[in-house]
Amino acid sequence: MANEVVDHGRRRFLTATTAVVGGIGVVSAAVPFIKSWEPSARALAAGAPVTQSLKKIEPGQQIVVPWRSLPVFIVNRTPEQLAALPKQDDRLVDPKSDGTSSGQQPEYAQNETRSIKPQWLVMVGICTHLGCVPDYHGEMKPEPFDPNWAGGYYCPCHHSRYDIAGRVYKGVPAPKNMEIPKYHFIDDTTVQIGVGPKGEA
Ligand code: FES
Repeated sequence: MANEVVDHGRRRFLTATTAVVGGIGVVSAAVPFIKSWEPSARALAAGAPVTQSLKKIEPGQQIVVPWRSLPVFIVNRTPEQLAALPKQDDRLVDPKSDGTSSGQQPEYAQNETRSIKPQWLVMVGICTHLGCVPDYHGEMKPEPFDPNWAGGYYCPCHHSRYDIAGRVYKGVPAPKNMEIPKYHFIDDTTVQIGVGPKGEA
């Protein structure tokens, strides 16, 4: 289930990228320099901002967007997933992200949902233990690794667990919450990763 969702996200991203590149090819015949308007692959790897539409992400679904050669998780969180967040606090290492995780969350996302809009999680999908990519387990149901699972992330490398806001549970090797990148909303359904709401990179 988790891999299926991730693959959908990657496929959509590649499709979108192909469409943009194809468009540039057609237009460049008439206006050769228009290519410079789009960030190159090298610029993207070096840290150029990435713009992503949220329109087709279903409730509860995650997509993965490459940014600076890192996977960025974007989740359309359901009301049920959001309602579960406050109930996790006692089980978490740093529920407010002001202890071991300070610096992992920009000030405009310093709230329980760790986001600008509660519905949308935008997060660097790298485990804070040794850098594996955790699996998305969004459903609230008993899991082999947690009978009281309320949705979130499970790292297959050394079994760290995070909630649906990327906050790490106690008793696992990961020391801090997953990182929230700088990002902002261009409009209601478009997010740009790599630039904060005030234009800070
Ligand atoms: S890298 Fe995730 S638990 Fe070790």
